[in-house]
Amino acid sequence: MQERVEGQRKSRPVRIPNDMIVQMVDQFYEKVRSHAELGPIFNGAIQENWPHHLQKMYRFWSSVLNSSGVYSGNPMAAHMNLQQNVVPENFGQWLTLFQETLSELFEEEDQAFIYQKAENIAQSLSLGMFYNPASTHRINL
Ligand code: HEM
Repeated sequence: MQERVEGQRKSRPVRIPNDMIVQMVDQFYEKVRSHAELGPIFNGAIQENWPHHLQKMYRFWSSVLNSSGVYSGNPMAAHMNLQQNVVPENFGQWLTLFQETLSELFEEEDQAFIYQKAENIAQSLSLGMFYNPASTHRINL
């Protein structure tokens, strides 16, 4: 049974406030866009649709971090379309910029909580994109 307060379902606790999610996403993609290797990949795919992409990413992270359910989409399919332009090393670069952003904004416990989510998702996206059962190569993030 859900806990109820005065007859209403208690709203879900928000672990990471929305304004921090917006700041995190904005700061992270600023770094991404000026990165020598990631910049051209993202700018090439997103072109003039950055405002739309950022809005989507606010919803994505709100769903991942606060279980808000406001994102609907298929990240695996979106990244499979990028297979020709992405190499496994790009995931390590992505995670480095993400960690850099987290350390600018959050205290250590929240940094670790958010980074863990990102790393797990990066792992499954990169496996989907690059894992070839016939290959003996390891994926090093
Ligand atoms: C090498 C690393 C990565 C690259 C180059 C990359 C690139 C991109 C690009 C270019 C798009 C836009 C696709 C489009 O609109 O056509 C996209 C979408 C997205 N990315 Fe990534 N990405 C990377 C890693 C990640 C990671 C680690 C996460 C999550 C932790 C993530 C989450 C998403 C999500 C949620 C979308 C939106 C999917 C949708 O359309 O609903 N990406 N990515």
